[in-house]
Amino acid sequence: MNENVALFTIFGGTGDLAKRKLYPSLFRLYKKGNLGEHFAVIGTARREWSDEYYRDIVRETIEALEPTKEEADAFASHFYYQSHNVNDTEHYDTLKRLSDELDQKYQLEGNRIYYLAMAPQFFGTIVKHLKSQKILTENGFDRLIIEKPFGTDYETAYKLNEEIRAVFPEKDIFRIDHYLGKEMIQNISAIRFANNIFEAQWNNRYIDNVQITFAESLGVEDRGGYYEDSGALKDMVQNHILQVLALLAMEPPVTFSEAEIRAEKVKALKAIRLYNEEEALKNFVRGQYGPGSLDDQDFAGYREEPNVGETSQTETFAAGKFYIDNFRWSGVPFYIRTGKRLTEKGTRINIVFKQVPINVFKDDIEHCEEKNDLPPNVLTIYIQPTEGFSMTLNGKEIGQGFKTDPVKLDFRHSAEVTGNSPEAYEKLLLDGLNGDGTNFSHWDEVAQSWKIVDIIRQAWDKTAVDFPNYSAGTMGPKSAFDLLKADGFQWIWEPDIWYRERGKLE
Ligand code: BG6
Repeated sequence: MNENVALFTIFGGTGDLAKRKLYPSLFRLYKKGNLGEHFAVIGTARREWSDEYYRDIVRETIEALEPTKEEADAFASHFYYQSHNVNDTEHYDTLKRLSDELDQKYQLEGNRIYYLAMAPQFFGTIVKHLKSQKILTENGFDRLIIEKPFGTDYETAYKLNEEIRAVFPEKDIFRIDHYLGKEMIQNISAIRFANNIFEAQWNNRYIDNVQITFAESLGVEDRGGYYEDSGALKDMVQNHILQVLALLAMEPPVTFSEAEIRAEKVKALKAIRLYNEEEALKNFVRGQYGPGSLDDQDFAGYREEPNVGETSQTETFAAGKFYIDNFRWSGVPFYIRTGKRLTEKGTRINIVFKQVPINVFKDDIEHCEEKNDLPPNVLTIYIQPTEGFSMTLNGKEIGQGFKTDPVKLDFRHSAEVTGNSPEAYEKLLLDGLNGDGTNFSHWDEVAQSWKIVDIIRQAWDKTAVDFPNYSAGTMGPKSAFDLLKADGFQWIWEPDIWYRERGKLE
């Protein structure tokens, strides 16, 4: 086992992300031996906490992982707390003293990871002080891990990037997109590049359309303050969805290395058609959930949620169609949709293949009565909550005559396997420790994603929609269905139908 040596300084050490994701992930790495005796963590935030209190909190955050008391104590003993005001230069001097002391104590070889788990407006100030107060080391590595959002549009992202790049080179900046740490997102490349049957057909001659759904059943919860300014477009499309789209659309990399993959992803993102505002309005639709009831449970509308304006125009749902103008994808629509308070939590990708040239079974067919056509072959990649993939094919129905019957080849990882698989944050932290930026987003990807999304945002900001326009528990507004219908397609995944048929959803 490769034991890593580093000091983690977590800005935002009392926050939700640190507690829910970072500490449990560090513990998993510790338990697996990826972290041993030579690591330490400094948690910083405004609050005045003692080391002891901080360690109690750390122990609480790992309870669900069922450590023995000795394990929990030994792990927590590596944690130190420092009350910190990001604008106060003196506080950085104290931080430097503590960092150097821990470096000695744990023999950390000058390796430092700075994790910025706080509001992005502080990123610039923090990195500036890390340099000016000489917290960066001369031996070992200095790496910066940052949470989203990276800017609020291209301009702010550019400015932020300039500030960060003044201190850290791109190779040492790890911009988290936690979807890139998910097992099945990483599996997209395996499915594509390790299976000739797919790669041979992965183009506009065989694929009719691609559908990417990131559905959430939860509402905005207590994040109204942040979400009001963000909305679904910036919260999910600019980052997670466009990253996944790039992985699906990119050309095969020459080798499976950070530099090659990144180069291919950037090329794919650059080939996405940049709409003008009029086209953006035609190809993208938005929604906001109103009250609703699913399975005998009542849900409030978005405007009734805490910290949300009564007349809020923020979208909690976005759907749209991208075109990728290159040889491989010309003419193939990539439909995307994401939303809160939808019927079911589910992230999945449907690759819809073209029909056979002629349907020789036409006279016997029962399915797809309207089009008198065969159902398409669909490759579905299930990202979460279940992980796996399936392929729908047409076979012959048993019996007399020649009726075709859709069959599904289905592979899901067992709960046992997925239970043991590392969590996204755990993988990403380990990648960061190893200096491997493959599963992080790089500046040129972020920049292009903002350019794509900014136009849609601008077009939306100039026009109003009559919100709310979908009920909580449904799969979004009618316009999201019309978008595909106009092209002669439909969403392959429609979990709401099951509930509607049983009268559990209006
Ligand atoms: C985050 C968004 O990036 O991703 C949240 O800010 C969203 O609004 C979350 O709920 C979804 O992530 P996951 O891993 O739960 O699907």
